[in-house]
Amino acid sequence: ATGLLSDALGRPLRDLRISVTDRCNFRCSYCMPKEVFDKDYPYLPHADLLTFEEITRIAKQFVAHGVRKIRLTGGEPLLRKNIEILVEQLAALRTVDGEPLDLTLTTNGSLLARKAKALKAAGLQRVTVSLDGLDDNVFRSMNDVDFPVAEVLRGIEAARDAGLGPIKINMVVKRGTNEHEILPMARHFKGTGIVLRFIEYMDVGATNGWRMNEVMPSAEVVRHIGSELPLVQLDPSAPGETAERWGYADGGGEIGVISSVTQAFCGDCNRARLSTEGRLYLCLFATQGHDLRSLVRGSASDEQLASAIGHIWHGRDDRYSQLRSSLPPDAGSGARRVEMSYIGG
Ligand code: GTP
Ligand code: 5AD
Ligand code: SF4
Ligand code: SF4
Repeated sequence: ATGLLSDALGRPLRDLRISVTDRCNFRCSYCMPKEVFDKDYPYLPHADLLTFEEITRIAKQFVAHGVRKIRLTGGEPLLRKNIEILVEQLAALRTVDGEPLDLTLTTNGSLLARKAKALKAAGLQRVTVSLDGLDDNVFRSMNDVDFPVAEVLRGIEAARDAGLGPIKINMVVKRGTNEHEILPMARHFKGTGIVLRFIEYMDVGATNGWRMNEVMPSAEVVRHIGSELPLVQLDPSAPGETAERWGYADGGGEIGVISSVTQAFCGDCNRARLSTEGRLYLCLFATQGHDLRSLVRGSASDEQLASAIGHIWHGRDDRYSQLRSSLPPDAGSGARRVEMSYIGG
């Protein structure tokens, strides 16, 4: 392992996102529409899930190849039993430079009030909480399980009290659904040190019925907020970052916009994704993954595992968002893109 790994387009490997469950207690229509993810949906059977030991063993090889950030995702990662034990194992890893990892987790916040302290104690550094609005009715209808917003806000407070920070909030903006929540959300988090990010609704997966006219371009979000709360653009804090940063002109902190649809950021995408069952995906919009589980469950040595990962990354030329506009609708002749709930955000 050299740490100098780069893919077919010259992009390094820096960020590993690990999905620890394909289940969630919410049914956000842009991610797990109720009609599809019902009680008959074929979730992964328990035996197919990577164990914590298997995840840590794989993660270690990624870190040896230069990964510096690990994000746990789902589904809803806090539904995975004893997740803090995995956090503890991952927190013990060191980058090629001998530094601790940037270890974080994306959650819907529903179980955070209960788990924040234990996660922090296990070595988690920070969390990102998904929150699509402050209005209780809007929020309940977007999560589609009637979950109250107050409980998520309590989770965010608990994360802050536990020292899990800097906290980020992800708001998916769907035109016609929650654009009225943009300003209330901005006002609520301004000056708190919590970074609110607005995500363009994406055509990820194959079940959410995505339509371009429900996408609110980030430029519009920035204009909308800027007209009430003046903004100035900030420099990116790291290469390959998903979010464009904007600061409040009065010093009230910053917001971000993630514009996968209107302004693709594949050019320096350094993210790899490991599914719950141990497949390596090279893009959020991939139709196929590379099976690593059979290697860890077979007789492969760590060296063989590392070399397989290196080989796969070497051949990577994915840049879906960049190509999106030039692809015919339903490109890939029937091959289904993976679901967000399966691969994480
Ligand atoms: P930090 O800024 O370090 O916290 O990480 P991040 O921006 O990678 O965090 P997060 O997981 O919160 O990503 C925010 C959202 O951006 C995700 O929920 C996805 O919707 C989207 N996203 C993240 N990575 C990619 C990517 O590689 N491609 C695309 N198209 N979207 C992505
Ligand atoms: N478009 C944009 N963001 C999405 N997320 C889930 N599905 C979509 C989609 N279709 C977001 C969630 C969460 C993160 C994991 O990804 O709201 O913040
Ligand atoms: Fe669950 Fe997050 Fe998907 Fe909503 S976006 S259904 S909270 S995994
Ligand atoms: Fe990376 Fe694929 Fe997203 Fe482009 S679309 S930024 S290659 S994950």
